[in-house]
Amino acid sequence: MIVITGATGTVGRPLLHTLAAQGAKLTAVARHPAGLPDGVRPFAADLADLETVRPALDGADTLFLLLAGDLLVDAGDPDALLKVVAAAGVRRVVLLSSQGARTRPDAPSHARLKAYEDAVTRTDLDWTLLRPGGFATNSYAWAPSVRAERLVAAPFGDVALPVVVPADITAVAAAVLTEPGHTGRAYELTGPTAVSPREQAAALADALGEPVRFVELNRAEAKAAMTRFMPEPVAEGTLSILGEPTDDERRVSPDIADVLGRPARSYAEWAAANVDAFR
Ligand SMILES: NC(=O)c1ccc[n+]([C@@H]2O[C@H](COP(=O)([O-])OP(=O)(O)OC[C@H]3O[C@@H](n4cnc5c(N)ncnc54)[C@H](OP(=O)(O)O)[C@@H]3O)[C@@H](O)[C@H]2O)c1
Repeated sequence: MIVITGATGTVGRPLLHTLAAQGAKLTAVARHPAGLPDGVRPFAADLADLETVRPALDGADTLFLLLAGDLLVDAGDPDALLKVVAAAGVRRVVLLSSQGARTRPDAPSHARLKAYEDAVTRTDLDWTLLRPGGFATNSYAWAPSVRAERLVAAPFGDVALPVVVPADITAVAAAVLTEPGHTGRAYELTGPTAVSPREQAAALADALGEPVRFVELNRAEAKAAMTRFMPEPVAEGTLSILGEPTDDERRVSPDIADVLGRPARSYAEWAAANVDAFR
């Protein structure tokens, strides 16, 4: 039995579908699990409340662990959670972390994920860490203004980063959860090339076959928009990566291609495949 947390989100939901199609026995954990593939056991639990997590792990040998929301800053206890996981008889854990947990381990935006990484790697479970960079799907935040007025408004218009297509994260997670050879590895998951917000707007324009205007926001304007849907320290940390990336954060990683045996998908491919959300 594989337990998937974050099971209704950007990474977890397609991961459930991929593994269900392979015939895996699955439990889907979220606070409000709904709309799951046939045959998947839904389990309502809050990862910040270990009493609700314990029964979700009954019969599990493998855990895909994804933290979201307040768990990224101030809720939950990483070591206590991993004790519950090990006591339940789980033998393998795959943690969906973030590139920032390696590149900015002390930043308030990423220190918590670093603590989860440390808790996982201190166990004697078979563990693997997945550290994605920024998701291509963050562009869905632009969908309303692209639909309404063919406009992308974003900060740091010319800073290019190798954003990753979440379907590749899902594909790597599925491989790591079901194939041997990934124990003790930490994979950095990026796209195949660095692409700036202005270039992302141009890729959306190409996909739409119509011009899309780009307007650069200042940091305060961008932060005001981001804190509507993420904790303030996570917004701050994300803006620091978007505006002042380290050399490591700009670098393309070979890990998706190494695990999947095919190149990582590009932002332009993602835009073409998901253009309907922007029409
Ligand atoms: N977006 C990026 O650019 C980026 C880059 C690098 C790393 N990441 C990492 O990716 C992760 C987010 O993944 P995602 O985009 O797939 O998430 P998402 O789409 O925001 O979905 C979050 C999932 O977690 C569940 N959840 C939230 N709080 C919970 C709690 N307290 N207890 C149990 N379940 C909870 C949600 O369901 P309920 O609401 O029903 O509980 C949902 O299933 C984060 O760890 C983030 O650091 C993101």
